[in-house]
Order: sequence, then structure tokens, then C-alpha cells
Amino acid sequence: MLPFDSLISAKQLTPEIIQKMFVVTDTMATNIKQHGRIDLLDDKVVALLFFEASSRTMMSFQSAAQRLKAGMVFAQSATGTSLAKGESIEDTIRMVEAYSDIIVMRHAMPGSAEIAATTSCVPFINAGDGGNEHPTQSLIDAYTIYKHKGRLDSLNVVFGYDSLQSRSIHSLSTLLSQYPNNRFTFTGPKELEPSDAMLSELEAAGVNVEVASDVDLHDGYDIAYINRLQEERFSDAKLFEKNRRKYRLTHDKVVNTKCLILDPLPRIDEIDTEVDTLENALYFKQAGYGVPVRMALLAMLLNKA
Ligand code: CP
Repeated sequence: MLPFDSLISAKQLTPEIIQKMFVVTDTMATNIKQHGRIDLLDDKVVALLFFEASSRTMMSFQSAAQRLKAGMVFAQSATGTSLAKGESIEDTIRMVEAYSDIIVMRHAMPGSAEIAATTSCVPFINAGDGGNEHPTQSLIDAYTIYKHKGRLDSLNVVFGYDSLQSRSIHSLSTLLSQYPNNRFTFTGPKELEPSDAMLSELEAAGVNVEVASDVDLHDGYDIAYINRLQEERFSDAKLFEKNRRKYRLTHDKVVNTKCLILDPLPRIDEIDTEVDTLENALYFKQAGYGVPVRMALLAMLLNKA
């Protein structure tokens, strides 16, 4: 059903694949409404390895597995497992593949997903590898945009405020770069601008890219994709403290615009709570879409959709 066994990067998510996944996601959303839980994966076990903190990704994968009636094995935090004793990612995966039919892993090290997927004999899903990628978040983000805007092309998108270290920004910008006529503006502190390599890749894919210290959302933007400064990835705590409250989406900046506000969350300082009351503030709806999207992905990787 999918042309890959493991999802490591948003680069794998072509428009053709996304189209198919959204059809299955819609079916899963209907199943949730009509039946609550279905028997699709009742002969499967899902391993959830969360070696870095998570609320949404971990719980929506749990909920997705529960709604498909799969069994589950868990590791929650690196300190509660033998990684803390120095066991390698490779050995961890060699063990977990014997306990499960599919592995979902979050790990703080960029590139850990590639190592795990290469080692694993069962399908593998990257649930976030450090500041590198978060491809399942980008599927949720794209599904949210598609549901509320009706398209993934010809979009004028603002990304803020930590484009250097946000894996969610990396993955969504990569996914959307595969659609025609998209325009991206990256905004935030100078020190947290996207890397030159990232900008070059997006430009090579045909995206019209800009970097700006500030933007006015009344200037016809379709999407503002806002993510917190990634405190846990700063090597210089002073740089985080200097910038954490400088970049904040407030009610006046977005009221009376048609710009959809997305945030992969958790929210820290980046969006004022007053914005929550606006119709175009979609971030909690976006978090809710995590369940049908991840149900679709689990079912498709296990050839059950
Ligand atoms: N969006 C996201 O990955 O949230 P969590 O870190 O809570 O899983």
C-alpha cells in the first residue's frame, strides 16, 4: 500500500502518497465517529519508544493503536530503559522487533531514526529525531491545511520562530516544497534563521523563499505555522532567554485576517492565549487530527488499510 516500510523523513511523502493517505485518514475519522474502535490491527503489537518527552505524539499514537485494537509495548523516557546503562539504539531495536510488529520511536539524537530504521526488520516510524525531522507531525499539519484550505499548493506560508531547530518546521516545509507555487517566509531571531542548506534545498525544489525579521499577517498570508523556541536544543541558555518573549503572536497581529494559525504545540510563549478564541486558530483541532492520521499510517504500513 505504501512504497516504503519505514517513515523517516517528510521527503518520502510525495503528493501522490499524501493523497492516498488522506483518503484513508478520512475513513479512519469516520470509523472513530461511527464505531469508536475497529478490529483492523487486533492481531498486531505496536511498540512505542519515547526516549524524549512527548504528550501529543505519544498519546495520539496510543489512541490510534487502541482504536485499531492493537496490543502495545511501551518505553517512556530513556532513563527507564537500558539505554541509560549504555545499550545502543541498534541493540534496542533488535530486541524490540521481536516484541512487536511495528516500532514508533522518538529520540533526542538527530539521525537516530535512520539508524533504527536501517536496523529494524519490522516497519519503523520516526516520531521525532532531535532537531532533525518529525514526519508524522507534517502529515497532521498538511491534513489540517488541506481540510481547512482545500489545497496544499499555491500557499503563502509564514514559519516562525525557530526555523533552525524546529523539526516540525523542517518536515512541514519539506513536505509542502513538493507542491507547486508555494511561497515561504521564515521569521524569528536572526540566530534561529533556517540553515543555508535548508534554504538551498527548498529553493532547488522550486519554492519562493524569504527570510524576514518581522512579518505583518494582514499582508495576505494563507498560513502562519508557529512553533516555540526549542529551549532543550539551545547550547547557549542566554540566547534562549534573550529571545523567548520577543517573538509572540498576539490577537491584534492576526485578528481580521484569513490567515490560518497552526502550531504543533506544546505552546510556551509563542502564541498569546487570546488568539485561541479566533476561528482561524486551528492548533487544538490540529492536535486532534493526530489520531486518524496516525491510525491511517499504522494501518497502511502494516498493509491493512
Ligand atoms: N507536536 C508534538 O510533537 O508534541 P509532543 O512533543 O507533545 O509530542
